[in-house]
Order: sequence, then C-alpha cells, then structure tokens
Amino acid sequence: MTEKVERAHDSVYGGATAAPKKLTVPDVVAMKRDGKRITMMTAYDAAFARLVDRAGIDIILVGDSAGMVVLGHPNTVPVTMDDMVRMAAAVSRGASRPVLIGDMPFGSYQTGPQDALRNAARFLKEAGMDAVKIEGGHETVDTVRALVDNGISVMAHVGLTPQRVAMLGGFKTQAKSARAARRLLDDAVALEDAGAFSIVLESIPSPVAAMVTERLSIPTIGIGAGPDCDGQVLVLHDVLGLYGDFKPKFAKRYADIGAQVTDALRAFDQEVRAGTFPDADHSFTMKEEELDKLRQGLARPKAV
Ligand code: KIV
Repeated sequence: MTEKVERAHDSVYGGATAAPKKLTVPDVVAMKRDGKRITMMTAYDAAFARLVDRAGIDIILVGDSAGMVVLGHPNTVPVTMDDMVRMAAAVSRGASRPVLIGDMPFGSYQTGPQDALRNAARFLKEAGMDAVKIEGGHETVDTVRALVDNGISVMAHVGLTPQRVAMLGGFKTQAKSARAARRLLDDAVALEDAGAFSIVLESIPSPVAAMVTERLSIPTIGIGAGPDCDGQVLVLHDVLGLYGDFKPKFAKRYADIGAQVTDALRAFDQEVRAGTFPDADHSFTMKEEELDKLRQGLARPKAV
C-alpha cells in the first residue's frame, strides 16, 4: 500500500487491527444530514470488493454495468438476475464495511411489484446485499413503494438510465431542456416520497443535479452530474483503466492497471517461450534418494 492509501485505510479502520464498523443504510442517509460526502464504487467480485472496502469507500454497487465491463456485452440489457446474484454474493464475501447494493437488471422489475419483490429478495437472501437499485422515474414509484413497504431498501436511479439505451438512442446526457429537467425533478421527489433512501443522478447537467440535491432530503449520488451531489459513484473498471471499449466524459481514470496487466502477461509469455520460467525459485525439488529409487524402479523391467 502507498502511504496515502495506508492513511485512508487506517482512518477508516482505526489502525491496522481495529475491526471496521459495518455501515448501514440509515448511516448513509445521516451522512447527508451531517454534511458528509458519500463515496460509492462498483465491484463485481470478492477480490476487488476487498480492495474497494480497504480504500474506505462507503457503498459498493454491484452494478449491471458488469454486463459491459465484465461479461463483454455491448450494453446492460442482456444481464440476468442469476448473473447479478452470483457476482453480488462474491462481493459480499469480500467486503465488510460498505453498504452493499444489488442492481436490479433489465426485466427483473419492469413486470410489476411482485416480480420486483421476488427478485430483490434474492439479492438479500442469496447474496447478502443491504439494498437494491432500480432505474427509472415515476413509472417505478409503485414498485419502489412495494419494496420499501416489504422491508427492502431502494436506491433510485434517474437521468441516463442505461437499460433504456436503445430507446434513448445511445448513452446521451439527459434533462438538458427546462421541460425534461422539470420532469426529472418531479420524478426524484416522487421516488423520495415512495421511500427510496437515496438516488443516483446519471449524466445530467450540473445545475439540474444541484437543484435535485437541494430539494431532496435523501442523498443524491452523482455520476456525470457535477460536484453538487451528496456523493459520487464511478464504474471501477473505468477508474482503473480496465475497460477500453467506451469511455464516457465523466469517467475519470485514476490508474492504468490495464496496461500493467498487459505488460505483466507479455513478460510471462516471453519467459515461457524463452525457457526462463519457471526457474529454481518457482519449482519444487525432492530428496536425491527418492529420485534414485524412482529411477531404479523405472530402469528395472517389470516382474510378470
Ligand atoms: O450499473 C452501474 O454501474 C450503475 C452506475 C453507473 C451507477 O448503475
């Protein structure tokens, strides 16, 4: 760990040995009241979930962005509940402090509150998630209410909703006209009234996000929504340079791990071809006498 990361880790964990206190959904809501900014990052497996946790991030979203950055689909539409539950379960095995949110994939909630309840319950029962996220505005209000009434915390998601990419004509910034921005504001208020504990604002003009943030008492988590949201989220693979196919303007790359991975694998490839790997340091020996016995056994013709 670099010194900076170690300091962040220690401030969260209270030193190297103290157990981290698990954050809860009410803790996240309280952060807005207390004027504390919220950090959220996606993760899709146990190894990265552990690293995200160690960095002190407050919320891990097991996003259906997995469809693109992990599963290799061109968009998030093909992702299934089974895909999501498997990844979410791995994330919950890797992370202990952050609030864990399972992203409801396309088709898992649009068919009505009953299907939404059954699928959201899978995230809690089979994958150890604390809450679920649902894309959409006023049309999801009844579903959000049904989930919350039945004890499932919901993070809403408005603005650019990637599950509608075909209908929107691509990954485009939303709420750019006064009329569309007003509709988004009304949707956000309706989702708060329905019981959502927070809301993602994706790819909308910063002043619109600022207005939503001011109007709501639940936290807004921005992605491409400017600096005035209560929190920020990015897709892990964008942050680490692990996904090169599509780079939205809002996605800041904090490291280029992808290039390092390629360099490391090239070195492996070259060493194997040159016969320099594995060397003695990476190989096992056995006692000379055992080796002799083996050789003698092989030299002697087998008794018939
Ligand atoms: O699926 C995802 O990763 C998301 C974030 C971009 C908010 O929904």
